[in-house]
Amino acid sequence: MKFYVTTPIYYVNDIPTVGHAYTTVACDVLARYHRLRGDDVLFTTGTDENAEKNVRAAEAQGIDSKRFVDKMADRFRQEWRGLGISYDDFIRTTEPRQQEAVQAFFDTIYESGDLYLDEYEGWYCVSDETYFREEELIEGRCPNPECGKKVEWMSEPAHFFRLSKYEGALLDQIEKDPGWLLPEFRKNEVVNFIRGGLRDVCISRQSDWGIPLPASIPDSEGHVIYVWADALVNYLTCAGYPADAERFERYWPADVHVMAKDIFVRFHATLWPAMLMSAGLSLPTRIVAHGWWTQGGEKISKSRGGTVPRPGPVLDMLMEETGCSRPRAVDALRYYMLRQVPFGQDGEFTGEALLVRYADDLANDLGNLLHRVLPMVHRYRQGRIPATSEAEPELHEAAKTAVRGWEKAVSTLDFRGGLEATWEFLRAANRYVDQKAPWSLAKSDDEKALDRVLYSAAEAIRVAACLVAPVMPDAAAEIERQLGLGAWERSWQQASEWGLLPGGSEAGQPKPLFPQLEAAKPAVSAGEQAAPKGRGSTEEQVMISFKEFQKLDLRVGEIVSAERVPNADKLLKLSVDVGDETRTMVAGIALSYKPEELVGRSVVVVANLEPATIRGVRSEGMILAGWVEGDDESISIVAPDRPVPKGSVVS
Ligand code: MSP
Repeated sequence: MKFYVTTPIYYVNDIPTVGHAYTTVACDVLARYHRLRGDDVLFTTGTDENAEKNVRAAEAQGIDSKRFVDKMADRFRQEWRGLGISYDDFIRTTEPRQQEAVQAFFDTIYESGDLYLDEYEGWYCVSDETYFREEELIEGRCPNPECGKKVEWMSEPAHFFRLSKYEGALLDQIEKDPGWLLPEFRKNEVVNFIRGGLRDVCISRQSDWGIPLPASIPDSEGHVIYVWADALVNYLTCAGYPADAERFERYWPADVHVMAKDIFVRFHATLWPAMLMSAGLSLPTRIVAHGWWTQGGEKISKSRGGTVPRPGPVLDMLMEETGCSRPRAVDALRYYMLRQVPFGQDGEFTGEALLVRYADDLANDLGNLLHRVLPMVHRYRQGRIPATSEAEPELHEAAKTAVRGWEKAVSTLDFRGGLEATWEFLRAANRYVDQKAPWSLAKSDDEKALDRVLYSAAEAIRVAACLVAPVMPDAAAEIERQLGLGAWERSWQQASEWGLLPGGSEAGQPKPLFPQLEAAKPAVSAGEQAAPKGRGSTEEQVMISFKEFQKLDLRVGEIVSAERVPNADKLLKLSVDVGDETRTMVAGIALSYKPEELVGRSVVVVANLEPATIRGVRSEGMILAGWVEGDDESISIVAPDRPVPKGSVVS
């Protein structure tokens, strides 16, 4: 099966925002998913360079237009590489192949009688690169509420495309193919727009920036093709039109064009299919519009003033707040974008919401599953995945439900639904580990039961890696590495199979998948994870200077009292005498220590840690402990080897 997916090609008047990244990531997820299924994928993106607004942006920077678009196209490529975008083709509309395709295409349209010369008199918005009728303007300005810029009067001879001729054919197409335009509610906007009456579209301008109308068309001299008419043809160019007939035969029509709602009704759902009908070419199988990312309720846009969220700074923020590596921050951003809002709807982009998704879904649900199970494989089975023929059927059922959930969701681009189905499965796997309590089985002599639980949990993690791979390719590869599946040839089929993890194979070393700096943890999960984390706990080892180390106020303290924190299995509330005062500290050590065995014990305390409220208790410091990461029963508190007075410095 072939699968051809396209993003819009972006204007290069500025570098991309998270809005452009959204469409591109969504298409990347589709492409990766289809590759996993074994499909022959063509995933294209690119830059729309023949727009007047690019020329104006170049002028504003005092750079020659060609040099400017070259530089910006490189920037776009760089941005997409940085977000793990696996495009197969990146098209620039200033390339010769685009000129060849556009001219061939307009020759065909001319031959079908759909081009004619007339006088254009009307308004043009350079920012939207759109023609408007007088009555469409709002107080003399661009009617697009996101734009509202001054429009320019144009009066020149121009070539027109007979769009009006296609009203009926377009309405028929919409009716006969219900899944053609998505989402459903936007389809009605298209129908209303067409029923409101389609006017013929001016498709040429007198300019020297753009693709010249073919010389074969009379009166074409001095005319370049209207930038939208040029840009839309990129979808054909990438499929090999007109020169590579075999490639074109293989990939056209596109399986899905993805874009935001701003360029859906007028351009992709109306003008483009009408142009294709005129040229006698098949229509794309589906055209899908998603919503906008907003900030303060307004569309995030390159042309808006102020700070606009762009992928680079968002990734920097994530790395700084959590201590994760760049590829993992990329995964988290990709996940957030697709999980946070339903695909057709608008959504407010906030760093806070991104950090909550990171902490709750990635560090907690996904990361913890791996980091509970793998250390136990090391501790109880010397790092070997147990061999068992009794992998848990109930978990397999849950895995199959998740796979079906993804498959259904992908067919309607319901990424959120797909991820929810996956997380349902992750929660089931976490519940399974809780219920089977392998740490207790390890104390019994039921070796087979422990093998079965550890194997099934590890197998669930393998399936999870497969399910998240299209969205978080780097995390998926890291999970597989930790499971010891370094050279694993992943396929979608394997997500529904059970028992593929080779028993007896050696697991990799555990390493936090989505690390979280203590300070970044929300109070509740900090308590629940009870994680007095080791130095190596952040993804990349960060070296600190001796001076930085000296900033730590480490002291010897003595536990004066200890009690459980209500409704928190892992937490103890301690009173610790640190020499000159007694402090309250919440410590996640309840699975390793009973309160009564702690009173009178010496401990090492971080005395200058910012206070935090954990489960309603204000904690003013932290005691140090060693542990096998992920195993809350292995905690061992750190104490001086010989008696030293309370309040003594530790250095
Ligand atoms: N060049 C045209 C597209 C031609 S396609 C044949 C264009 N370029 S653009 O640079 O303005 O990109 C618009 C597209 O960028 C939107 O349709 C959407 O895919 C993406 N987005 C830009 N900002 C966005 C948001 N704030 N939110 C969601 N998507 C956004 O139009």
